[in-house]
Amino acid sequence: MCGIVGFVGKKQASPILIEGLSKLEYRGYDSAGVAVIDKDHINVVKCKGRLENLENKLSKHPLKGIVGIGHTRWATHGKPSDINAHPHNSQDGTISVVHNGIVENYLQLREWLMSKGYKFVSETDTEVIPQLIEYFYKGDIVEAVIRAISKIKGSYAIGVICSKEPGKLVAVRKDSPLIVGLGKNEYYIASDIPAVLNHTRDIYLLNDNEFAVITENGVKLLSEDKKEVKKDIYHVTWSANAAEKGGFEHFMMKEIHEQPKAIRDTMTSRIMPGKPVTLDDIKLTKEQIENIDKIYIVACGTAYHAGIVGKYVIEKLVRMPVEVDIASEFRYRNPIINKRTLMIIISQSGETADTLAALREAKKRGARVIAVTNVVGSSVSREADDILYTWAGPEIAVASTKAYVTQLIAIYIIALFFAQHKNTLSSEKIESIKKEMLSLPIKAEKVLGNKEIIQEMAEKIYKNKDIFFLGRGLDYAVALEGSLKLKEISYIHSEAYAGGELKHGPIALIEDGTVVIAGATQENLIKKMVSNIEEVTTRGAKVLAFTFEGNKDVERAADYVIYLPKTMDIFAPVLAVIPLQLLAYYISIKKGCDVDKPRNLAKSVTVE
Ligand code: G6P
Repeated sequence: MCGIVGFVGKKQASPILIEGLSKLEYRGYDSAGVAVIDKDHINVVKCKGRLENLENKLSKHPLKGIVGIGHTRWATHGKPSDINAHPHNSQDGTISVVHNGIVENYLQLREWLMSKGYKFVSETDTEVIPQLIEYFYKGDIVEAVIRAISKIKGSYAIGVICSKEPGKLVAVRKDSPLIVGLGKNEYYIASDIPAVLNHTRDIYLLNDNEFAVITENGVKLLSEDKKEVKKDIYHVTWSANAAEKGGFEHFMMKEIHEQPKAIRDTMTSRIMPGKPVTLDDIKLTKEQIENIDKIYIVACGTAYHAGIVGKYVIEKLVRMPVEVDIASEFRYRNPIINKRTLMIIISQSGETADTLAALREAKKRGARVIAVTNVVGSSVSREADDILYTWAGPEIAVASTKAYVTQLIAIYIIALFFAQHKNTLSSEKIESIKKEMLSLPIKAEKVLGNKEIIQEMAEKIYKNKDIFFLGRGLDYAVALEGSLKLKEISYIHSEAYAGGELKHGPIALIEDGTVVIAGATQENLIKKMVSNIEEVTTRGAKVLAFTFEGNKDVERAADYVIYLPKTMDIFAPVLAVIPLQLLAYYISIKKGCDVDKPRNLAKSVTVE
């Protein structure tokens, strides 16, 4: 899991590479490096730590040259260090490579190369790639890259430069994202679009096993057998600013505030009063929907928590059995799947390795797969049968916020779409649900207008060592997400429990001053939650509850209450998660943590 960039043009490459890397740091930030061709020689500068360390190093040793590659790393093979940082050179220094992914057979390849006299300097899997390319190089870098790639098993997006062909950059991908930016007489490669947006909006989305050969004269796309590939240019419509912090101190805060818009965008042209739910990229027919007898929702992290909401909502509105699974568990447990199974994959990035593997497993066994993803052209979107894009825009902060609420919206849309086809709800009921759904952006804005109370709460509780979350039904699903947000960015130990489980263990942890955050939005469960709140306050806990306006019982039982604008119970998670995101944010700030780049985490887990 790393970010790669590359540049070919007439300008100095190094500053452009650094600028691109700064937009990709969310993909990894334990080390960074660049390699630039100066006439007939490749110069590499790389070091452990954040990009600013690399910039400092470059200010002392500036690199000259107009063709180069860059990398920001999240370690998998080999600890973060100067030597393990990319780019990696071949033994004779003529080939330099940046790589995102994992070379699974690197040990065999390394042994084989060592038997041919190659010496290795790093602990990385990546170093076999430049060595292999050097081994196969007979005067044609494209040929050498193709031959080297044919020996590699695993996932990769790579950028390659060669000092013997100084005007050229070669790139290829398999199971790791890679795009090519098309500027005016200058060209870029990058793991993600924000890295090139300051220079161009026209890009090629590379497919697996496609090679890009880039010179100052243009970009040639080739298949593995060197046949030219013709591809449409994808024009990016979102602004460069959308990928920046837009006036907020942190990406996370910016993204929390983008939620009303993201919710609205995700409903656009899909949820309209008086019109059926229309989904362009879901081709399932009424008959196919009738044939489905089981739904799996599979995802990781925050997306998995959106899946739990999906189970409650789809079962309630569509009356079909839904199982939610963590992708890394699903893929290895021989799940019961057949042609009547529908799988809904949820993935913000569309590149999470376990999620992608689960998708492939399900397809292999005959299931139909719908992908809910935020990234157009991502691996998940390309491999699924049907797609529902969440229109959240780029999410940069490692802790997911706006992607989560749009995943919820996508789930509601799918549930309504099915309910419509299976007649499990009357058209009046569907209309009233849609009407309420369309009011969610305004209600979310209202929640965001109440930040001060949450900031005050954060001041009160940020020193606690443990914070517990409790909820029943959909409040339990939100509790899981609130707890994850808190631990991810503030490093406070936190657990979420279903209210009914309290007496089966967690209550033993409650003592004087323990902080419990309790969700009480679900009408049929409020009384039960009030009892749970009383059970913990009696034992000394301080309870912060969230509920809908007017629920006085909750106010009486809890120490503090956050009121949410009234909505239908099924939509409570969309509004309830916002104060929990804000709470995690403010606590993280109070504790002086790096909100956008929490330790040990990465935005997109593209390796197992
Ligand atoms: C990582 C991120 C999470 C995200 C999860 C799944 O753990 O830090 O924010 O929820 O991956 O990512 P995906 O892109 O598949 O939604």
